[in-house]
Amino acid sequence: MEVVIVEKPEEIGRVVADAVAGVLASRARPTLGLATGSSPLPVYQELIRRHREEGLSFQAASAFLLDEYLGLDAAHPELYRTFAERSFVGQVDFEQGRLFGPDVHAKRADVSCKEYEAQIAAAGGIDLQLLGIGSDGHIGFNEPSSSLGSRTRIKTLTRATRCDNARFFGGQIEAVPRHVITMGIGTILEARHLVLIAMGEGKATCLAEAVEGPLTAMVPASALQLHPHATIVADEAAAHKLKLLDYYKETYREKPDWQGC
Ligand code: F6R
Repeated sequence: MEVVIVEKPEEIGRVVADAVAGVLASRARPTLGLATGSSPLPVYQELIRRHREEGLSFQAASAFLLDEYLGLDAAHPELYRTFAERSFVGQVDFEQGRLFGPDVHAKRADVSCKEYEAQIAAAGGIDLQLLGIGSDGHIGFNEPSSSLGSRTRIKTLTRATRCDNARFFGGQIEAVPRHVITMGIGTILEARHLVLIAMGEGKATCLAEAVEGPLTAMVPASALQLHPHATIVADEAAAHKLKLLDYYKETYREKPDWQGC
């Protein structure tokens, strides 16, 4: 696992956008897994900037949502599909119909989960999966106690997560849906490169547990320890509880070019 510690959100954007640009340049049909929420925003802003100013193109790419709320009206602005279109996909040159997500409005959400897994497989799997981390250690919406081998399925959000996300729903916890469809931890681990972004003091404890604690279903993000190519990009506030902080900084500072992103 590589741990990159940066000083400013713009640096998070730059580091992760370099990895995304690498995928776009090296794959004929690149596939990106998109997280929503606050963490990936500096990345999306940098990718939009590179698209507008440097011609970075997403024309050959497909994007897959990491998760989606169940029970939100199709016109709701906080639907993750709408969020992803607004904050990234709709601002660059993805081809129409190349943003995929589980169909949360189908009669059988359980069938949607299986279909979504099949869509990811048909696209050849995900090249680079962006992740945030919940303050309770979740990735996607795999809450603590989620099976480390889980596949895309319906999950119930914890009260802690609904509290965290109430800021997107006018501060009303009751307005935050209870249920979601999320890629499972097993699904996430199949992506070829995992990039987890953590910003702010509120992520310090869960990040330390995920990176340096034991592998446990109680900290779903600890599953990244199993992945052969996982990158954590964190700001100082999120990283300060890491025991090997100085080692990670030195390793990144001295990183040889041949190692790549
Ligand atoms: C969002 C997602 C969640 C968030 C996590 C952190 O698609 O899957 O795991 O990444 O809840 O949210 P933020 O980034 O808003 O702190």
